[in-house]
Amino acid sequence: MIDTRLLSGRDVSQAVYTALHHQIRSLKSKGITPSLAVILVGDDPSSKVYVKSKSRQFEKMGLRSETILLPEATSEAGLISFIEELNQDSTFHGVLVQLPLPRQIRSEKVIRAIAPKKDVDGFHPENLGLLTTGQSCFIPCTPKGILKILSHFNISTKGQHIVVLGRSNIVGRPISILLSSKNNNGNGTVTLCHSGTSDLKTYTRQADILIVALGVPKMITRSFIKKGAVIVDVGIHRLPNNFEKGYEIVGDVDQQSVEGKASAITPVPGGVGLMTIAMLVENTVEAAEIQSH
Ligand code: GUN
Repeated sequence: MIDTRLLSGRDVSQAVYTALHHQIRSLKSKGITPSLAVILVGDDPSSKVYVKSKSRQFEKMGLRSETILLPEATSEAGLISFIEELNQDSTFHGVLVQLPLPRQIRSEKVIRAIAPKKDVDGFHPENLGLLTTGQSCFIPCTPKGILKILSHFNISTKGQHIVVLGRSNIVGRPISILLSSKNNNGNGTVTLCHSGTSDLKTYTRQADILIVALGVPKMITRSFIKKGAVIVDVGIHRLPNNFEKGYEIVGDVDQQSVEGKASAITPVPGGVGLMTIAMLVENTVEAAEIQSH
């Protein structure tokens, strides 16, 4: 049995907020308050929770965030013209459309409508193209938060075999590109596994660092991992139980099961999720800084 270290997102996000206070004060002294417009279409319960946490954090930091609620039946064209208005509104530095969107709306079309300089989620193809070619851009918040956790705890990625589970545009795809890029936080050998991978364990058991973004509660158990592996758990699920609260928050990893075999793990809650929000704040402050010149 080894001691499994908890990689708390709480400590790292606090360090990020402390570092941002100075920059925010300096922007405010010039009459600029970093401002984010968040668009939520429909009533997806998890999206509502995420949007509320984002706006709470902005308020805490003395920043402005406005949540715009649009009905489930909103058309794609209607949403796009709304985004175009926000692109023109210089009082907003960032524009974020919460995903997933109702089925009548194609998310690719909507993401393309966001001005790249206001795309604090880093989802626009222009930003993803810059990321892929190693150029300066808005880095998607969850991947950026994962890199920040690893560097904060001095977990080196250079030469490590990093196995990423999940190929979403939000997490799996961009983190696999970043971790294999030639820079300080990268230089790893990356294997990207997904729902089409056969014999997943063959790969996960070889991972020095395992990044799990599958969207399946507690799927990764002890037998999937190598002794001493570092595990980053990106999943957040609300599972019903019989205790007082009536539910528990769990990740894609069965945390109890890997305890004593993994050398380190990001907890759920209190891990990557907190970092996603911190990186959204950071990207919005960066957007305000860029637009102030
Ligand atoms: N849905 C799940 N994660 C995210 C995110 O990081 N940004 C947006 N806009 N929607 C999401």
